[in-house]
Amino acid sequence: MRKPIIAGNWKMNLTISQGLAFVSSIKDGLNAIETLDRVIAPPFVALPALADLLRESQIELAAQNMHFAEKGALTGETAPGMLTGLCRYVILGHSERRGLFGETDQGVNRKLHAALTHDLIPIVCVGENLEQNEAGSTGTLISGQVRAALAGVSAADAHRVVVAYEPIWAIGTGRACDPDAAQHVIGAIIRGALRELFGDQPAEQVRIQYGGSVKADNITSFMRQPDIDGALIGGASLKTSWVELNQRAAEARV
Ligand code: 13P
Repeated sequence: MRKPIIAGNWKMNLTISQGLAFVSSIKDGLNAIETLDRVIAPPFVALPALADLLRESQIELAAQNMHFAEKGALTGETAPGMLTGLCRYVILGHSERRGLFGETDQGVNRKLHAALTHDLIPIVCVGENLEQNEAGSTGTLISGQVRAALAGVSAADAHRVVVAYEPIWAIGTGRACDPDAAQHVIGAIIRGALRELFGDQPAEQVRIQYGGSVKADNITSFMRQPDIDGALIGGASLKTSWVELNQRAAEARV
């Protein structure tokens, strides 16, 4: 049984004090939803304060990115070892990182290995843009991104990875992917690629999220799909309805 995981990606939103106030207001409600893994990914600067606030809770934190190197002359970057103790997860290869900051499949793969070495759980993002979707290349593209990101990972380590399918055209647009179409990409294409890479049993253990315009109003239809193990959520993770969204996700899985 894969435990569902709902993660809120704040992106570049909320100051430290705004983040503390928001999480204080949702903490008890969110903490009570024990059938889900509940993750919040704030900007780097808010991680220490939120780690303190959430120390006695089951709510976990994620970084939104990291470098793969241990240390060095890399101005503005954050090393994996600097995250240990601050957060349990790290989002890697988000389409905004790939599209706006030039991240490549190879770089994402190096980061993924560095995360596993440092006992961080990578949430590795894959997704096609509208043009690729309309050209019918979603399957080839997503399968290629998954294979590249997970290259060199052992079957024994596969269960430590979370994959997030985020079609770029669905991010921040209010136009979520059709849940059946998301199930097809996640179940047939992504889990299919994982089967070929690792074998049936390890592939069954990998949690795969959907992301792109998920809200409290549509989370249930995604969670009811057999291969969708949760969601990676931007805009709706900054709203007070975040607890309700998590509750609905948990109820959809009972
Ligand atoms: P939205 O939920 O705002 O569409 O963002 C999705 C996303 O990019 C999460 O990483």
